[in-house]
This record gives sequence, structure tokens and C-alpha cells, in this order.
Amino acid sequence: MDATISRRIFLGVNAAAGVGMALAASQASRAGAEEKGAVGVGIVGVGGRGSGLLGLLLGMEGVAVRAVCDIIPERVANAQKRVIAAGQAEPEGCSRSETDFERLCQRDDLDAVITATPWEWHTPVAVCAMKHGKYAASEVPCALTVQECWDLVDTSEQTGKPFMMLENWSFRSDNLAVLNMIRQGLFGEIVHCHCAHSHDCLSHWYHGSAKAWAAKYLTTHNCDLYPTHDLGPVLSWMDIGCGDYFDYITSTATDSFGPRDHYTRNFGPDHPLAKQKYTQGDIVTSVVRTKKGKTLVINYDMQLPRPYDNRWMIQGTHGLYNEQRNAVYIDGVATDWDPFPPYHEAYKHAWWREGSSADGHGGTDWLELKLFVEAVRNKTQTPLDVYDSVTMSCVFPLSGESIAKGSAPVQVPDFTRGKWETRKPYFAPDDGKFVRPGAAPVGRTEDGMLTQEFALGLRTPEVQLPGVSLRFTGDPTPHAGWAAAAGQPSHCMFAAEQWGIEIGVPKGSTGKVAVYAYDLEGVRKQTVVFENREPDRLDDFHKGVWVEHAFTAEDTEDGLLRLTVSKAGDVGNCVLSRLRVAVAE
Ligand SMILES: NC(=O)c1ccc[n+]([C@@H]2O[C@H](COP(=O)([O-])OP(=O)(O)OC[C@H]3O[C@@H](n4cnc5c(N)ncnc54)[C@H](O)[C@@H]3O)[C@@H](O)[C@H]2O)c1
Repeated sequence: MDATISRRIFLGVNAAAGVGMALAASQASRAGAEEKGAVGVGIVGVGGRGSGLLGLLLGMEGVAVRAVCDIIPERVANAQKRVIAAGQAEPEGCSRSETDFERLCQRDDLDAVITATPWEWHTPVAVCAMKHGKYAASEVPCALTVQECWDLVDTSEQTGKPFMMLENWSFRSDNLAVLNMIRQGLFGEIVHCHCAHSHDCLSHWYHGSAKAWAAKYLTTHNCDLYPTHDLGPVLSWMDIGCGDYFDYITSTATDSFGPRDHYTRNFGPDHPLAKQKYTQGDIVTSVVRTKKGKTLVINYDMQLPRPYDNRWMIQGTHGLYNEQRNAVYIDGVATDWDPFPPYHEAYKHAWWREGSSADGHGGTDWLELKLFVEAVRNKTQTPLDVYDSVTMSCVFPLSGESIAKGSAPVQVPDFTRGKWETRKPYFAPDDGKFVRPGAAPVGRTEDGMLTQEFALGLRTPEVQLPGVSLRFTGDPTPHAGWAAAAGQPSHCMFAAEQWGIEIGVPKGSTGKVAVYAYDLEGVRKQTVVFENREPDRLDDFHKGVWVEHAFTAEDTEDGLLRLTVSKAGDVGNCVLSRLRVAVAE
């Protein structure tokens, strides 16, 4: 029985047997906590987020949670119970004061300290942890002032201890696929991006239940209070810190309209929250210009009613990705928006190809924590380092400074101290052998021929079959939108006029060509034929059929096969979604 299974079984038994099993649990837990090579972790702040992170850590092999800290003793007790229930030794509890995290950091059985407190404690806890020789990680943002950014950088450099801000959106599968596409050059040189954190937090965060700690920022600040979820993926998309860096930032804020309106509507005009004066503007728009002449538009949008959105758009010299449209546009590939999901699949990052836990933001939180823990265990750099962390967070203070100066440009300090010029991109490397959507990898047919299948509609399928080429004759139209109904690739060839596909094959070769055709109106109006053959009789066109032709050496004396779509009646539209070519070697 492997360790995972034995622990799961133990957990199940323990949950069922309740208190009577407590002694056995505690004995078994000690074994777990003292597991050889376990990474010792301390957590500071076990409220909403910290509890979530704790749950993920308790589900990981080789992690021992040895201390928990919170200023609310009941939360510490609750976290301790959860650790014990997970089969580990009772962790030390620290809740004597706001600075009791110092006691936690002093423990010599911890390798890492993770902080999920209110924002103002992130830097103090992380600095303390690094000074005591621990890896440090904090929730977002990691720093609220330029001085705190420097404190993190200086401490990490002086102690040699890595620091990582837990910016989970950098680890999302869609964002990492976009990173792979950028690195494969699909969008050309990246020039510009938009990003936003659009999340109505008034009721559940700023003034919700016990989390009102964030509310004070609405009455004391006017800046981008939460810039890292939007910037997370953008940092690597634009090689910020690794070849380029922020130069200056200009920020503009609306006045504050949302909070008073919200509280008036919800609690009445006489409620103190409805009468409160709010300094924080509802929408903050920052524009960053980089040293290499690129631009980023960053939006703070957290106090007006709306559904969640990040509004990512990244644009280069060859095309762009638009998260809101769930689409890409690549010059020369399509004439309009191309659905993103096939690209997401084709460029899926290795971290997600290998699978991820379903817990925590669709597995994203689990992935970032797992990678942090691996770095601690292997004593390597964390997947996001201190420079990335403060570069994202510095938008908090610098946007405030720009707004206070009437939207004046504010220079961004070079927190890398010039390293950005020589550092190579290191985040999320992937050695995947990506095949562009539209072409499946070369395979073999049952009778041993080399074969490849192409989605038709992406204008330039990548042909990898030796000696085979494709050319469209006539004027086929790439067509999007019918695919879901037909269960076909979302981009297809729409054949309104006579046109054809010219398939170059090795001269005198034999093989098979097949095209998948359908007509949503349910009437066969076109035929798909080889020029040198009788038209096929197709009666079931609307359901979609593979029209297959075997070709012989005589057909390919000139090395060319001509597949033609031609009108069969007075009107004629049909959709071709896939082409398959097989050649005998
Ligand atoms: N990455 C994400 O997706 C995500 C999601 C939610 C929250 N967060 C971040 O997590 C952090 C915590 O947010 P939350 O929603 O869990 O808030 P919360 O109020 O639920 O939890 C914060 C906890 O910290 C404790 N605390 C306060 N001061 C402390 C101190 N000096 N020492 C020890 N404990 C202290 C509080 O008692 C509380 O239990 C914030 O920085 C927030 O921005 C991140």
C-alpha cells in the first residue's frame, strides 16, 4: 500500500470513528509529521484564504504543517484540529499578539512560512521569515509601499532565501497555454496588453462579515488596490523582468460612486456606511510603458456591481489573444476571430498536461502551492521570484502616487537592479512539441500507411507527411459557428462556389484521401469528387459523411490529386470540416 492510499484510508477511518480514534490519530500523525524529508511549513493567517491553503497543503504528500498563527485564537484551534485530523502532529499555535508570527518564524523545524493575513502584514511576516532562514510566500499583493518592495528584495538578496507572492492566476491553464503560444511566436513580437481585476467585492469582502479589514482602504487610499491577479500572467507574456521592464506608470481614477450607492440601496441612506466618505475611486486605469516601448493598460474595478472578469488581451505584430471573446486572431491563419479552445488544447502547458487537482480555483491554487513546496524541498528558486512579486505589487503604491499628482507619470524603480536586461525568461518553461490546431500528429493507418488529419478552415494546415502538400484552389471561406451543432472542429470550410483542394503527393504513390462533409440544411447540394472519378452518390450529407477515395499510382503520375467540391443543384452550400491523407511508404 503506498503512502497516499494508507493516509486516505486512515483519514476515512478517523472521520468515521470520531473522538475514540483521537489517540491513534495523534500517534499516526506524529509519524506523518516526522516523515523523512517532509517540508515543514508554518501558516500565518488562517481566515478564509489561509484555511483554503491549509487544506491544499494537508492534501500534499511530504508536507508537515508544524505551526499556525492567527490573532483570533479560535481560528488557530480550528486549524490545529484540521492538521491533527489529517494525520499530522498537533502544530504549535501562535495567537498571543499581532506580532506572534515572530515566534513562529523562529522555529527551527520550519522550511517555509506562508502568509495569508490582511495585506499590511504580508511584508513584515515574509521579511521576518527570510531573516530566520525560511522560504517565504505571501498572498497578494505582497507589498503596499515602495519601501516594502525594497524590503522584500533586499532581505531575499541578503539572506539568499527566495520569496514568492502566491499569484495564482499566473498558473491558470488558459494563461499558460497563451504563454506557450507567445513563446512559439504565434502572435509575433508582443506590443500591448489590457488586463483588469473586475470583481465586485463590496458585499463579500470590503464590508462582508468578518473581512472588513479591507474596507479601511476604501477610506484611506485611492490607487489600484489589487493589481496582481490581472498582472500575473501578463508579466511572463511580456517578459517583464526578463528582457523588458516597467519604465513609468500613469494612473487615473474615477471618483467614488459605487460604495455609497451600494450601501444606500442595501442598508438605507442613514446607515453609517452609506454616509461614509470614500476616497477610493471605483475604476482606476493605469498605463505602464515599458523600457522596450510596449504598453500595458491595467484596470482596478472592484466596487461596482458586475460579474467577475479579467479582460486579458495581449497583442503582437502577428495577432492577438482576447480572453473575453475566448478567441485569437492570427494573421494569415484566419480571417476573423478563431475560437481559443482548440489552441488551449494544442498548447496546453506541461503542468496541466500532467493533470492537476480539482481543488482551489480549478486546480490553479493546488498547482502553485505544489510548485512552491517543490522549490522548498529541492532548495531551488520559486516559480515566481521576489522581483516578479514586487513588480506586480508596486502598481499599488505607484498608481496612488500618480493619481495624487494629477495622473503624472511616475518612474517605476528597477527592483531587479538591472538584472532584467540579462535575465532569461524562466517562468513555466515547457518543452512540449506543440502541433498547431488544424493538424493532428502523423500516425499510421491500420494497413500501415502514414496518415495525418487536418481541420479545414484554418488557412494553413501544417503538413508533416513526407512529400505531401496542400493548396486550396478557388475561394473557400473559413467559417466559424456551425461546429458545435455538427460536433465538428469549430472552424470549417464553407463552400459556396466551386473550389477544390490540390493535394501534392509523391509521384506514382498510392494511398487514400478522405474529406468529411456535411450540410446543416439536410439536403445534399454539393458533391465532393476527384476530378478524374465519377461523382459519389451521397444521400446522407446533412449528418456528415467521410467521402473517401483510394488513389493508385496511375492517379498520381504527376504527383497531384485534385479534390473538387461542385454544385449539384441550383443552390449549394456545404461545409467541409476535415481532411485525411494517407500515403503508402
Ligand atoms: N489569491 C487569491 O485568489 C486570494 C483570494 C482571497 C484572498 N486572498 C488574499 O488572502 C489574504 C487574506 O484574505 P482573506 O480573505 O483570507 O481574509 P480573512 O480576513 O478571512 O483572513 C485573514 C486572517 O488573518 C488574521 N490576521 C490578521 N492579522 C494577523 C496577524 N498580525 N497575524 C496573524 N494573523 C492575522 C485574521 O484574524 C484572519 O483570520 C489577503 O491578502 C487577500 O488579498 C487571495
